[in-house]
Order: sequence, then C-alpha cells, then structure tokens
Amino acid sequence: MTMRTTRKRSWAEPFKIKVVEPIKMTTREHRQRCIEEAGFNTFLLRSEDVYIDLLTDSGTSAMSDNQWAGMMLGDEAYAGSKNFYNLYDAVHKHYGYEYLVPTHQGRGAEHILSQIMIRSGDVVPGNMYFTTTKLHQELAGGRFLDVIVDEAHDPENESPFKGNIDLGKLQRCIDEYGAERIPYVSFEGNVNMAGGQPVSMQNFRDVYALCQKHGIRVMLDATRMVENAYFIKTREPGYEDKTIPEILREICSYSDGATMSAKKDHLVNIGGWLALNDRELFEQAQNMVVVYEGLHTYGGMAGRDMEAVARGIVEAVQYDHIRARIGQVEYLGQRLIDESIPIVRPVGSHAVFLDAKRFLPHLPQDEFPAQTLAAELYVESGVRAMERGIVSAGRNPETGDHNRPALELVRLTLPRRVYTQAHMDVTAETILEVWDRRAQITGLEMVFEPKYLRFFQARFVRK
Ligand code: F0G
Repeated sequence: MTMRTTRKRSWAEPFKIKVVEPIKMTTREHRQRCIEEAGFNTFLLRSEDVYIDLLTDSGTSAMSDNQWAGMMLGDEAYAGSKNFYNLYDAVHKHYGYEYLVPTHQGRGAEHILSQIMIRSGDVVPGNMYFTTTKLHQELAGGRFLDVIVDEAHDPENESPFKGNIDLGKLQRCIDEYGAERIPYVSFEGNVNMAGGQPVSMQNFRDVYALCQKHGIRVMLDATRMVENAYFIKTREPGYEDKTIPEILREICSYSDGATMSAKKDHLVNIGGWLALNDRELFEQAQNMVVVYEGLHTYGGMAGRDMEAVARGIVEAVQYDHIRARIGQVEYLGQRLIDESIPIVRPVGSHAVFLDAKRFLPHLPQDEFPAQTLAAELYVESGVRAMERGIVSAGRNPETGDHNRPALELVRLTLPRRVYTQAHMDVTAETILEVWDRRAQITGLEMVFEPKYLRFFQARFVRK
C-alpha cells in the first residue's frame, strides 16, 4: 500500500513480538578476554558472549508464526516431498524460472552452477565479487573479472545504483577473451561487497541485451534481489507504482537462471536453490545435486525447511515488510551520518558499512584496519560486526600477494525482524565511543591463515 501524505510516515515494523530470546550483557574485561581468545576474529567468538549480533543477515531472521506453523507440516519423505512442490510453486511464481534444484544454502548452488558451466581457462565477468561465488568459479577452473561501475569502489559516491555493471568494461572483456570463453555473466543484485548497493532495471535490461547479442548467458545471484527490487521502486523513474513482485519478475526475465541463498531475503535459517530456464543445464544440475547435496527434491534441506522457505518467499515480497526492513537499516545509517561517522553512502539494504580507511586513517591496510575496528566495537559494548576488506579479499591465486580492495569496511549487518530501534541506538552509541578514542587504536598482525575463505578462521594478535 503506498499512501501519499505530505507528512512523513515512519517505517514501524508490520509485526508484533510473540516470543523473545534473552541476550547476555557482559563486562568489558570479559569481552577483552573473549576477543583475544578469538584471535581478534569476530567469527571465532561464541555467540553467548555477544550482546547485539550484527555479524550477518544470513540465517539470522526471526521466522513468522506462519512459517513455524509450516514447519509442522514438513513432509519428510526421501523423495517427492510435497514441501518441494510448494517451494517450486513459490519460486516459479515470484522469480519466474522453469526449473528448480534445491540446495542446502547459496554456496551449494554456486558449486553446482560453476561445475556445470565453467571450463578451465574461462573468464566469468561479474559486478564486484562475493567470497564464496568467486571461490567456486576459481575451483571450477575459471577466473573472475570485475566489471562493476567505478563508483562502486568509492564509498563517498552517492549514485543510486552503484551495483550496476559497466557496459563498456563488459564489452572490452568480450572483445579481449571472446564470447566462447565466457560461460556466463555473474550478476548480483544489491551487491554485498559494495555495501549493499543495487542494480537498476535499465542495467539488468542492457546487460541481458548485450549478452544475448553474443550468446552469453546471464546468471543472477538473487540472494538479496527483493531488497534490490525495493530500491528500483523507490529510486528508478517509472517503477514507483509497480509492485515488488512485478519488479522482481521483470528483473529475473533478464536472466537465464539464478543462485539463491534463501538465508537472507527468504526469512529462514537455512536453505538455498539454483533455478534455470534451460532444460539441458537443469538436467546436468539435477544430476550433480544428488552427488553433493541430496536427492533433487530436497537438496540438503529437510521438508520442513523447504516449507519455511516457500512461506518466507511470500512474506519477503510484501511491500510493508521490505520497507520496514530497509527502513531500519536507513535509521541506523542516518544516525551515524548525523554524527559525521564515515560510512558507505548511500546506505545499503542489509547493512551499514563503516569506512575503516577514514575511521582509522593512521593504520596501513596491511595492519587490517577493518578487522581491528570490528574487534574494538565488540570490546566496547558486545556489538559483533565483521570485516569486509583486505582479509575478506584473500590472495591473488597467481601472485600469492594479498588482494588489496579499495573498500576497507566493517559491516554492521541487520538480521531481519530481530532487533529493535533501541538496539540500533545502542549500536550507534558504541560506534561513537570508539570514534572518540580512535587515535589510540593500534593495528593487528595475522598469525594464522587458512587456505580458503580466510576471513572465517584467520587469527590475529595486536601489533
Ligand atoms: N551470495 C551472496 C551475495 C551472499 O551474501 C552469500 C552469503 C552467498 C552468496 C552465499 O550463500 O552463505 O547461503 O552459502 N553471504 C553471507 C554473508 C555469508 O554474511 O554475507 P550461503
């Protein structure tokens, strides 16, 4: 429902709270000990030692009473569970794809897509990278090539669609490598690593047209595509009167398939899928899923999990839901902007990203400013955030050196339907406390580095 009144109406949540989960307040000394034991990596903290957990929006949503009711209707048959068909119907209706392969979560879908489509020596252009997506492309023998617009790398640039693909860069990639070496364009909605920045409908349309001309497929990362649809509705001329489901269907019509981490938009704690329009590709994917995930009618999810996803999709595309979800992120972002804290602008959909380069300008990138800042926030008040900078970017597989991304960020990620406005206020106050003592903060040294996705398990000590 869109109401046009002259006075601004707040984004208050379209739900009330029926069940609560107590959280623990801890002392500064306790948190100091915890972060040292965790090697200054917030992924290695125990969640019971965390007060406000803004590590991720992945699998951390509060489910609705309707989703919980659906959990009781799980059909746990090994084959042909009715919940699979409910899931298929919801995906088909809202995303429009013909074929569906369920997976345990997003990376399960990325693994299968990469293995069936990428050959050794291929190049996969994409709009910035996501950690697991890029790794699966590399493990399949491909090389990821960033073709996002330049503005995405500038945290202060206020363009409304910083997730867009630069058509010139994509064309040059096609000219240089040839369409036959490009199995697909990997196109993420609401680009996570850029700060939750959306893609415009015009760009989805243009990229698809260019790819069609060259016989290249377009595969979406639809993980936060509902959030992207909201930004199209509120920022792109011509879409203000379209519904979220209409916009979502149009986005997907400019693609050949999608991978999905249902743990985000779909308001569940586990789940994912790969959807395709091409029957031959689908048959290959369906064959692979039984090797790595589970039978093709459950793919690593229980029947009840599939039911929760099916019902979550219907809730996710409600305008009032998505407005309140993004409204809460904007509320936190605006509080920080009002205090002149350096954050990525415009505020993204799922998180507020602190710009650690401007927050801790005295720390060189090789001393991990974002990793350091995330640890300091935790010590300050038990707020858990995560690094999205040099640690997340990993190493160049050819040279072995660190990748040094332009963006060195700390992500304060908001779980859906979980925290209140007062939690947002405490989070903002925490950041201000750390801001006031920023000059005294010293950097970190990495003392343990795993080979894959190092940010999850790397350990650090104070310099
Ligand atoms: N694509 C995007 C854009 C993601 O953000 C994620 C996960 C995945 C794919 C992989 O999905 O976790 O279900 O296997 N992002 C989480 C995060 C981990 O915290 O941003 P998954």
